[in-house]
Amino acid sequence: MGSPVRVLGIAGSLRAKSLNRALLRAAGELAPPDMEFRTFDLATIPVYNADVEAAGLPESVAAFKRAIREADALLFVTPEYNYGVPGVLKNAIDWASRAAAGEAPVMNGKAAGIMGASPGMGGTMRAQLQLRQAFVFTQTHCLTAPEVAVSKAHERFDADGRLTDEATRERVAAYLVRLAEWTRRVASRITSPA
Ligand code: FNR
Repeated sequence: MGSPVRVLGIAGSLRAKSLNRALLRAAGELAPPDMEFRTFDLATIPVYNADVEAAGLPESVAAFKRAIREADALLFVTPEYNYGVPGVLKNAIDWASRAAAGEAPVMNGKAAGIMGASPGMGGTMRAQLQLRQAFVFTQTHCLTAPEVAVSKAHERFDADGRLTDEATRERVAAYLVRLAEWTRRVASRITSPA
């Protein structure tokens, strides 16, 4: 893959002052030069309902699946709710994991990364592990190390949601370099003959 790595960033929180949306914005700013960074806002994704799906994919879901298909890698920035993945994000993954007859599942074979931010000490590690479990089913190739689990996150952003903590900025920047490398490795294994 000689061209830039196209990353689609997805935050698992909808609130305007979300720490995870702020972390995603910081990732967009800190992306290396060989990375093209886009985001998808989950606000318009409806609650999954197989009857709605059978009647015709909602436009927001079709747009989400298109954005995933066009990306080389997905970057999930997840909060942790009750030790797990928030419904907003799990719901979106549930939609994205479904494929019509004859259609390739969009998350299958895709490279992915995970980051998360929490005001607590755990820094979303439990939610991140749960997300990895979903990727077993979707056959999404998630980078395993390093990890970006931002604990005490409310102390690391300013009032405008800008990531001010230098150590965290460096960690995010280093993670994105690794994600770009990982994405190229995943792509070469999938497209090269065995
Ligand atoms: C939380 N929070 C939380 N934090 C954590 O570290 N572990 C957890 O299990 C939970 N559980 C939890 C459940 C629910 C329903 C809410 C609303 C919150 C706190 C959570 O980390 C905090 O609200 C974050 O700020 C949420 O992320 P955003 O919206 O700032 O991105």
